[in-house]
Amino acid sequence: MRFPDGFLWGAATAAYQIEGAAHEDGRGDSIWDRFSRTPGNTVNGDSGDVACDHYHRFESDVDLMADLGLKGYRFSVAWPRIQPTGRGVANQKGLDFYRRLVDRLLMRSITPMVTLYHWDLPQALQDEGGWCNRDTAERFGEYAAIMFDALGDTVPFWITHNEPWCASMLGHFRGVHAPGFKDLRLGIMSAHHMMLSHGRAVAEYRRRGLPGQIGMAPNLLPAYPLTDSPADRDATRLSDGFTNRWYLDPVLKGSYPADMLADYTRMVGELDFIRPGDLEAMGAPADFLGVNYYRRRTIEADPTMDMGYRVHDRMPGVPTTVTGSEIVPHCLTELLVRLKADYGDIPIYITENGRVCKDEIGPDGEVHDPERVEFLRAHAGAVHDAIAAGCNVKGFFAWSFMDNFEWAFGYTQRFGMVYVDYETQRRMPKDSARFWGRLAQTNLLEAAEGAGSSEAPGALTGTQPALVTDSEE
Ligand code: FCB
Repeated sequence: MRFPDGFLWGAATAAYQIEGAAHEDGRGDSIWDRFSRTPGNTVNGDSGDVACDHYHRFESDVDLMADLGLKGYRFSVAWPRIQPTGRGVANQKGLDFYRRLVDRLLMRSITPMVTLYHWDLPQALQDEGGWCNRDTAERFGEYAAIMFDALGDTVPFWITHNEPWCASMLGHFRGVHAPGFKDLRLGIMSAHHMMLSHGRAVAEYRRRGLPGQIGMAPNLLPAYPLTDSPADRDATRLSDGFTNRWYLDPVLKGSYPADMLADYTRMVGELDFIRPGDLEAMGAPADFLGVNYYRRRTIEADPTMDMGYRVHDRMPGVPTTVTGSEIVPHCLTELLVRLKADYGDIPIYITENGRVCKDEIGPDGEVHDPERVEFLRAHAGAVHDAIAAGCNVKGFFAWSFMDNFEWAFGYTQRFGMVYVDYETQRRMPKDSARFWGRLAQTNLLEAAEGAGSSEAPGALTGTQPALVTDSEE
């Protein structure tokens, strides 16, 4: 399968997950520093204090990307490196780090895609209410403006928010991500201010007449009804509104979905934090949409659950990864086709997709990850199918370039195409890294040898907390 010329093949990371150097060069605390330090929040009490030490190793990391053949690199800026307390003058050392990183990428002919917010809010802003405080949207606009002034001339792709559903709902409703609240109203309110801040950043970007493009990268969880019953179908509508449309509609259509406004008002009372003019700001035209896709949800109506439905994360007979996440690449094709039908022809970049494997250094001294190769191959194929069906997909960034701090799961889940030995910080490209680099170089997806891998559902060793999903619904 040949991909369109110029298709951007890359890999993604996020600041808190890889940088380490948590207290260096004036970096302030973020909500994830605080959350990780609180006992019981992450597996083994892991934190991003050291992570992959990328802050000190970015040059060799970029060289490795280039040697593998990657064309694009999506990374995030740690807001508390730029504004340690979330406001005021920029910390020059923080800006210098990202300037050097971008320069290195450009020197090695790798296109940078910069995410402004990948969940690490300055703790000082959280102390004033965080994303539940409307003022945080204004602070974000100010921070975005600093970044555009510093790097807007050289960075062609900007993403305002990574996965605002996770940041709002897992952080404020499910309590499994920072800041760890458990209140639906706070979830909806924080989501509103995140998307308002997206609008503020887009306005700052346009004001400067910069040459690049700006968009948002929600994680989309396509929902399928368990049965054809009206109750399951309606619950599926609600799940889709909760995880997907609440974020897509304001940004791409400038309005909230009417059914969800009614549902949320019924659940939490009047949404009086939505003010006149907010939706116009949020709907400022974006240049592209980032799509983070990992899995689907199968939905069954269940009035005993807090959202009125139950999520089935694993359906019988569907292959899963070692963490029990269903492997359903065809749902990515269906999602992309649906996005085009509902939101038009906006260019789309797959900004995340990948999986956990139980990676180990083998007797030959290499890390072989055939399941990840097949997973990425299948999802690249699904994107090709979508393009053949007329979807405007322009690039694909695999999650992740290297193993890293996987939030509440700490270092127990390896998503990387490059293995990281956390004792020595040695990097070892896995088979998937070579596969992905070849694809980037040739733009040609080759069929799998043999019939593909079948994988028995299993579990990682050691104690695992429940999957970070909202399946309590
Ligand atoms: C996404 C996050 C990313 C990483 C992957 C596995 O939800 O955006 O940081 O944790 O999942």
